[in-house]
Amino acid sequence: MSVIDDVKQKTDIVEIIGQYVTLTKSGRTMRAPCPFHSEKKPSFFVYPDQQSWHCFGACNTGGDVFSFIMKKEGLDFADTLRLLAEKTGVVIPSHGATEADDQARDKIYEINQATTQYFHNLLLCNPAAEKARNYIKGRGLNEKVIADFQLGYCLPAWGSLKQYLLDKGFQETELLDAGLIIKAEASGKTHDRFRDHIIFPIMDERGRATGFGARVLDDSSPKYINSPQTRIFDKSGSLYGIHLARTAIRQQNLAVLVEGYMDVIVAHQYGFSNVVAPMGVAITEKQINYIKKITRNISLALDPDSAGEDAAMRCVIFENTLDVDLKVITLPAGQDPDEVIKADIKVWQAQVEKALPVIDFTLKVIAAKLDMKSSRGKTDLVNKILPIIADVKAGPRQYRYLTGLSLATGVEDRKLEAALASYKADRKVKAPRPTAMAKATRTISSNPVEEYILTILLKHPEMKEKFEGVSCDYFENSENRALFELCQSAVGLPVVESIDPVIREHLDILLQRELHGEDLVARIEQCKLTLKKRYLLSLAHKQSFTREPEDNSIDSGTILANTDELNNIFKSGIKGK
Ligand code: UTP
Ligand code: MN
Repeated sequence: MSVIDDVKQKTDIVEIIGQYVTLTKSGRTMRAPCPFHSEKKPSFFVYPDQQSWHCFGACNTGGDVFSFIMKKEGLDFADTLRLLAEKTGVVIPSHGATEADDQARDKIYEINQATTQYFHNLLLCNPAAEKARNYIKGRGLNEKVIADFQLGYCLPAWGSLKQYLLDKGFQETELLDAGLIIKAEASGKTHDRFRDHIIFPIMDERGRATGFGARVLDDSSPKYINSPQTRIFDKSGSLYGIHLARTAIRQQNLAVLVEGYMDVIVAHQYGFSNVVAPMGVAITEKQINYIKKITRNISLALDPDSAGEDAAMRCVIFENTLDVDLKVITLPAGQDPDEVIKADIKVWQAQVEKALPVIDFTLKVIAAKLDMKSSRGKTDLVNKILPIIADVKAGPRQYRYLTGLSLATGVEDRKLEAALASYKADRKVKAPRPTAMAKATRTISSNPVEEYILTILLKHPEMKEKFEGVSCDYFENSENRALFELCQSAVGLPVVESIDPVIREHLDILLQRELHGEDLVARIEQCKLTLKKRYLLSLAHKQSFTREPEDNSIDSGTILANTDELNNIFKSGIKGK
């Protein structure tokens, strides 16, 4: 079995997505408010049978568990596979290229170091950086933190960094690899990625620059751009400031997480050195796991706007699955930590000390929307929180949650415990959780048509234009979609060396296939049609589930059978699976 299939078999989409949103059962589907945009009426659906999801709201898109994580964590397919492999205990075999790989990684570290120095010197000395120096002064940063965080500036030129690094003896391909220059598609020429930005080198725990964040000097959009994913830069695993915060986190046995680069720097400047930031994306398991090695106590300074019910609920789930002690620091509305600290460090200190355990915070957020004087309000609160408590292992944490709920509602502990027991019993009957057996026998759907059309494209890149009109959305399997996108963006056949080794396995499987049949152009047309039809059918099928289960008049079995039949037409066209 390929690594991809192995991971798929061991992953349950309901379990994974359930870590990000609270899913409610609705017929044979699960639904929730979409985690990708804010909405009141839930238009986000998960289909356990097909191991897929779809948002019928603003996103109007969907996919499998891979595409969910890719979208949610901002990862590419290869890194998503790594993340899920890690979760499921699947080992990704190394491809023997380790030595060459090590060298390529070392090269990027070297380039990043030279780049950090170059940008830092420009900020300190270059006459053209006056504007940048003024900006940074305006934000109240002192010389010490500018040096500690190695802040920099890049000139408003298209090739100044590139020229500097070439002069130092680095190759253009290495600079592309490091994500510091970009190749323009039309001309094929390369230019600097960052121009006229304040530069924030992102360091690993050893203080080596792995990538860069960059901020505009005005407040134009996008406010920040970052290095792309590289061999050494993984946004979802990085913690800004960790190299300077590690010792303080250990000493204080507490890590404080804020949202932005500036918040970290200002906190450090004012002596709060246990502060780090995730990289703009939602906090990931990887980041928490790293912090866990130093401390189990984590306080989140949440932006009060985003600290809605959903975010709070997610934090509780996080606390449990990752087994850490999470607290929430609330800030005066509309203010970032950076502003709070600069205005009055005492306010910040007090808020950090007053941080609420995540369960109390959640109770507070939810209760604020209910009439807690009425018994209706109390019941609503119990109904919302009990399912969460039911997922907590019996022990001190569960006890704490129950006590919190009891205090908030005035319902006795004893009664809540009884309610919990009956809720658990009820749930067991209604929705059996996936058992180990069910996991082991989960069918992995291969996608013959997808793979066939992809094989043609891989083997005959010269026919690329015949694929016009094929949308990425037609590909249900993320690994196929990822390869299709690679082919689309590559000039000719994607250079095997530049492909992440974890996808290479899938690529190799496809390349080994023999293409039978004479008229490939006609076959492409057939496949295109089939994929489009299937795509539209599956949309209709999924939509049928969005109605209330009782008035679900469409016979989903027929539609599925249709799709299978379409697949079968082409199965004969492929040999070698
Ligand atoms: P914010 O938009 O809250 O910015 O993004 P900020 O940190 O308060 O920035 P200042 O104070 O105006 O300078 C929070 C963090 O999210 C990431 C950055 O890490 C940023 O610090 N981010 C934000 C991006 O990566 N890209 C963006 O376009 C925006
Ligand atoms: Mn800010």
